[in-house]
Amino acid sequence: MKVIMICGSRNPDGQTGHAVDALTDGFRSSGGEAESYYLPTLKIDHCIQCEDNGWGICRKNGVCLIEDDFAELVDDIRQADAAVFASPVYWGDLSESMRAFTDRLRRICTFEGARVGIEDKPVMGVCVAGGVGGGSLSCCMSLEKVLNTCGFDVLDMIPVRHQNLKAKLNQLRLAGAWLDTLLKARQERV
Ligand SMILES: Cc1cc2nc3c(=O)[nH]c(=O)nc-3n(C[C@H](O)[C@H](O)[C@H](O)COP(=O)(O)O)c2cc1C
Repeated sequence: MKVIMICGSRNPDGQTGHAVDALTDGFRSSGGEAESYYLPTLKIDHCIQCEDNGWGICRKNGVCLIEDDFAELVDDIRQADAAVFASPVYWGDLSESMRAFTDRLRRICTFEGARVGIEDKPVMGVCVAGGVGGGSLSCCMSLEKVLNTCGFDVLDMIPVRHQNLKAKLNQLRLAGAWLDTLLKARQERV
């Protein structure tokens, strides 16, 4: 089983990065394969609302005309068995890089053909409030909303704050192992 981890932090050694590592460790401990992407290190521009009515070719063709790393990352999600979206909490909400990526993803997903490999794909969300510790729940709600709009099968949303990060890392390891077990069980049923 393969999971793709999409992280809205720039820092693999930061708090969100540690959360991603814990999920990865858990997933691998159960035999799964995991690959991580740190969005600020990729070129993913924000939506430019191409047409006067606010839409663009995303609505009719399920693709985005901006030439950057977006399409390749979407294809990587399609190839994976599951995805994890992990964002640091900024002002109780998603980081800018996570917002830019998910904004464009939900747009292409309005076109039915583009939902292939996205619709019903199991995903988990993690939001890490690494400052004072507030806003992890509102960030989880933003993330869950956009993931649902895209058509994913949202399995779990895990809020983390810096005060409970150590304890949550154990929980995230268990969640990673659980995810691999769940994917295998679902595959056996097919
Ligand atoms: C623009 C900005 C806004 C932030 N807003 C919050 C917040 O609402 N709540 C909070 O606990 N921390 C907040 N923080 C701190 C981040 O959550 C913290 O830096 C992040 O979790 C750690 O980043 P890392 O995971 O990349 O290490 C904010 C940080 C930045 C840069």
